[in-house]
Amino acid sequence: VDEKLYQMKKLMIFPFSGTGIEALDCLGDEWSCTGFISDDPQWIGKNYFGIPIYDRSRLLTDNETYVLAVPGSPDSFLKREEIITALNIPDDKLAIVIHPKAAVGSHVKLGFNALIMAGVVITSNAMIGNHVCVLPNTTIHHDSVIEDYTLIGGNVLVAGNVTISKNCYIGAGTNIKNGVTIAAKTLVGLGSNVISDIIDKKIVFGNPAK
Ligand SMILES: CC(C)(COP(=O)(O)OP(=O)(O)OC[C@H]1O[C@@H](n2cnc3c(N)ncnc32)[C@H](O)[C@@H]1OP(=O)(O)O)[C@@H](O)C(=O)NCCC(=O)NCCS
Repeated sequence: VDEKLYQMKKLMIFPFSGTGIEALDCLGDEWSCTGFISDDPQWIGKNYFGIPIYDRSRLLTDNETYVLAVPGSPDSFLKREEIITALNIPDDKLAIVIHPKAAVGSHVKLGFNALIMAGVVITSNAMIGNHVCVLPNTTIHHDSVIEDYTLIGGNVLVAGNVTISKNCYIGAGTNIKNGVTIAAKTLVGLGSNVISDIIDKKIVFGNPAK
């Protein structure tokens, strides 16, 4: 056990939030979480199952620690780029965290600061940008492109050749038809069926999504 701990890479998770604590479950034997970073005074100085919660002054205080930055909810996802950029973490210090029970194909391209949760399947030639989170049991099929800063909820089906542009939020349980393109900064509501391109609508939902 000691040898395993020695080999694990150190990780701080930002923020102390629902997605942040779910990230903790994804670390497997590769990462050891040495702290959360929070902006919320009610949490700073406390701990979560023994893991300390710090303020931002503890970010990047040593050379060996990586950061996973996963802010954003259906209400705040449009601010993800601004929030992550303001942390000022060099790209090579941003982690890629893949749950040991996710299946990421060998020809998939995955950017930095990616969080891929349990049960996610990503198949041939899919391209996942930087700062992308994919929640449990989502499937992303061949040749699909998920651009930077996008969040994909749990149980989403992204069929082949789909493009989800920058900084979208795809609500849980949504299906996206093959070949569809979704414009940047779109929120797709929970449980939707997206069957044609979404060009200039900022929020769509339902079946078919409108
Ligand atoms: C789409 C969404 C943003 C709309 O939120 P809202 O603007 O507060 O809308 P309201 O709840 O006031 O609903 C407005 C109408 O749309 C309907 N509606 C809202 N969300 C819907 C959805 N996802 N699917 C179908 N209908 C929906 C409501 O029933 C309501 O219909 P009515 O006017 O006939 O009564 C929200 O419902 C949603 O799905 N957010 C994503 C949540 C999510 O993915 N959570 C998972 C976290 S991982």
